[in-house]
Amino acid sequence: MSSSSSRITGFYRLGLAERRRRLLETADLPADGFAAIDPGALPLETADGMIENVIGVYGLPFAVAVNFLIDGNDALVPMAIEEPSVVAAASNAARLARPAGFTTAVSAPVMIGQIEVTHVADLDLAVARLVRDREVLLGDARRLVPRLTERGGGPVALEIRPLAKDGPDGAVLVVHLHVDCRDAMGANLVNTLCEALGDPIAEIAGGRPGLRILSNLTDGRTVTVRCSIADELLTADRGSGAEVRAAIAAASRFAERDPYRAVTHNKGIMNGVDAVLLATGQDWRAVEAGAHAYAARTGVYRPLAVWRERPGGLDGELVMPMAVGTVGGALHVHPGARLALMLAGAHTAERLAAIAGAAGLATNLAALRALATEGIQRGHMALHARGLARAAGATGELIDRVADELAATGDVKADRAREVLARLSSSHMLKDSP
Ligand code: MEV
Repeated sequence: MSSSSSRITGFYRLGLAERRRRLLETADLPADGFAAIDPGALPLETADGMIENVIGVYGLPFAVAVNFLIDGNDALVPMAIEEPSVVAAASNAARLARPAGFTTAVSAPVMIGQIEVTHVADLDLAVARLVRDREVLLGDARRLVPRLTERGGGPVALEIRPLAKDGPDGAVLVVHLHVDCRDAMGANLVNTLCEALGDPIAEIAGGRPGLRILSNLTDGRTVTVRCSIADELLTADRGSGAEVRAAIAAASRFAERDPYRAVTHNKGIMNGVDAVLLATGQDWRAVEAGAHAYAARTGVYRPLAVWRERPGGLDGELVMPMAVGTVGGALHVHPGARLALMLAGAHTAERLAAIAGAAGLATNLAALRALATEGIQRGHMALHARGLARAAGATGELIDRVADELAATGDVKADRAREVLARLSSSHMLKDSP
């Protein structure tokens, strides 16, 4: 961000054009920057060059969550998502966390490439030979990526893992090539290295070359996000701050005890994470796959974030794999993704990982706070009611009036929205007529 704060009070109440104007004041963006997310901004020809069999371009709302303070710096958090409430939830939770903000620790950006060798004649001998040639192989791998190595990245380690002594594939081992990908997500880079090293490694191991591909269980490339919320900020209609704090900690324990709950808890985290990843053009399927494997790494599926009480407040901590990049991939061609990175001020993969992780911890906090107090449906219905009011044709102040009436009666349906709008519009007109 340029200079100003991401704390923008009432951002959700502004009209779309006014929101853009406010962001132009706040973020380092070119004056016409938002053209990148206007409908039609991704030209058909560009889309046609990105994937196969293209017949169109698919739209999703692109929003900005506000109030985020991450490692002492304000961040506007771009989110692309179809689900109502998530952006509001992220912004609200970021406001609660804001006094100290989110603090993060991002590991070195090390990805794992897997080189499988099957039908190994002598497993012990193969391991011994690979250990003997480890440094030579690493040197060869580094020479294949000279520019990355110059930038401080490149292959950093080679690990040998025997997988099977016998069976349909004979004795099997896999070599893990650890590659520091710097600001790239690194899939292409790692796959290229694995393919280049596959044959020499199989020869040294005395076996047949098997698969050569990166692993999406990027447990060496993680983000840790922490935040603390004071009791007075947790206070809700249905409970004091201390009660809400205790209820959120209990909700965390429920997820820690029960994989059925842990999956939904983690879904609430991925609401925030995926929306940021989608907006910024990341391979969100890779992060999803890695997140859930990481959650189950002890043999039991567990929550990626936990919440603990302390006197006067609540502490949250999220740890998850986060393989993201700010160069390469769709970023070469996707104007909206490039704008998202600019908006977020995410010039490095490290900062992007921190922002996506903070969004995940924020949406988790918001979900648990709602579930632990009034449930999620009330907030959800209020937003749904606004959507129905707009779809029925309400504009201006009528949107809120129609939505409020729908929400108050609990009858949040499209035909009801049309009825309420017709009634309110005619009384509006009567009032305005001379
Ligand atoms: C809905 O998209 C996400 C939640 O189900 C998450 C949770 O239960 O923690 C509300």
